[in-house]
Amino acid sequence: MKKPLRKVAVLILVTMVFILTPLVMIRALGVGTEGSSSSAISLPEPRREMSDLAQAIFSRRSVRSFADRPISHADVSDILWSTIGITVDGITGPTRAAPSAGATNPLMIYLFVRDVDGLNPGVYRYHNVEHSLELISSEDRSIELRRAALNQFAITRAQANIVIAADYEKTMDRYAVRGITYVHIEAGHAAQNAALMAESLGLGSVMIGAFSDGMVQNLLESRVASPLLIIPIGSR
Ligand SMILES: Cc1cc2nc3c(=O)[nH]c(=O)nc-3n(C[C@H](O)[C@H](O)[C@H](O)COP(=O)(O)O)c2cc1C
Repeated sequence: MKKPLRKVAVLILVTMVFILTPLVMIRALGVGTEGSSSSAISLPEPRREMSDLAQAIFSRRSVRSFADRPISHADVSDILWSTIGITVDGITGPTRAAPSAGATNPLMIYLFVRDVDGLNPGVYRYHNVEHSLELISSEDRSIELRRAALNQFAITRAQANIVIAADYEKTMDRYAVRGITYVHIEAGHAAQNAALMAESLGLGSVMIGAFSDGMVQNLLESRVASPLLIIPIGSR
């Protein structure tokens, strides 16, 4: 074989060994969630008509444009409760709507009101035990919140925004560095509850993770609240 031809043959061989073989193995093992292997066991269709929860999971999608209509005080109350609100189980007594590693409860929930019936525009902190709001600022700060989040217009189109923040120390005091992971997992639990509650109330929502931590933290007026997610909530 001529030298250049031999080079091409070696290149093809290397490609097959290093790229194609792992791909074939991944397929054979059924690794990955979007595909399926030939040995897949098919499941019955999800029964989304069976429960309100299944319907909310099915119909939830990111909504970034909202109708120009106020949302109600009661809807806001339900959505805030779904994040870290108090629930009761028969064994441990009071607990919260979302699980928390070691019940360290690091999450801090804020509400930015723009157009909610029965609530003045402003920034509030949600207190779960009392199920109440503490006024942080009586100014509508949604434009500043939008600017802190690369000017994403969903924030000022929405009638309200929830900001999920956390006091990392609460969980890290017990779990050290592992606590960082736990805090992020917990924010996801609370955020998904809020999204599904909004969906089941006929409202729209979207997760916003692209923002300046420092700019949002300034709006929360807290030294310990590290912001993790902004969730615009609005009429459809
Ligand atoms: C952690 C996280 C951060 C996100 N940040 C943004 C964001 O900054 N802006 C935005 O428009 N969407 C954001 N999204 C929404 C995703 O773009 C959206 O969930 C994805 O495209 C899937 O669409 P779906 O929610 O309709 O299923 C974020 C989602 C997650 C989970």
